[in-house]
Amino acid sequence: MNLSLEICRFNPEVDREPYFQEFRVEIAGHQTVLDALLEAWRQDPGLSFRRSCRSAICGSCAVAINGTPRLACQTLIRDIAGDNGRITIQPLPHFRQLKDLVVDLEPLFDSLKAVVPWLITRPEHDGHMDPAVSQRMESLSSCILCGICDAAICNPGGTKPAAYVKGLRLAQDTRDVLNEARLRLMQVPPEILKLFIKKMPDVCPKKVKVPEI
Ligand code: SF4
Ligand code: FES
Repeated sequence: MNLSLEICRFNPEVDREPYFQEFRVEIAGHQTVLDALLEAWRQDPGLSFRRSCRSAICGSCAVAINGTPRLACQTLIRDIAGDNGRITIQPLPHFRQLKDLVVDLEPLFDSLKAVVPWLITRPEHDGHMDPAVSQRMESLSSCILCGICDAAICNPGGTKPAAYVKGLRLAQDTRDVLNEARLRLMQVPPEILKLFIKKMPDVCPKKVKVPEI
């Protein structure tokens, strides 16, 4: 298939505003948007975007595809290219565009740091995990920190959804010293929490579910 990729370009050293550039690429329907981006990059090695695993594991290839935040390596061309064979690719919304499709992820990591995103083991704990607790945390543990939920569900000034997922996962971990005290580290108004619960399964590429607590 001959595909028209409309890619949002921006180089802060030379451009005053972002603009779209069209790339024509030859690509099969079973290939991914990341494959298409790599084809465009072969045409212009100055094109900037993040990717690493190509397997929906590292979370680095998150971009807005036809306006919706998705993982480029998980999105098949045949599922996204309309009859006109055209796809638009933009940086994740709600993040600062650094260059082309690369955004500033610092606000996400700052929000993550604020929830103390590591296990603080109880000294007396024998390390064994109750299977029921482990099962309860399974969905939350699938987060790959891609930032897509932050791009799709805003919590202005509060804990970002990806950080909330990490904090909630640790709050349920019986091995953790802070345990449920972690809930007090997070700032999510009830109306925003409802949005996290409702929208997360639809927007998250790993189908993370935020449980009601
Ligand atoms: S919860 Fe899902 S969408 Fe949000 S950062 Fe984690 S993997 Fe990405
Ligand atoms: S390249 Fe790792 S998630 Fe897409």
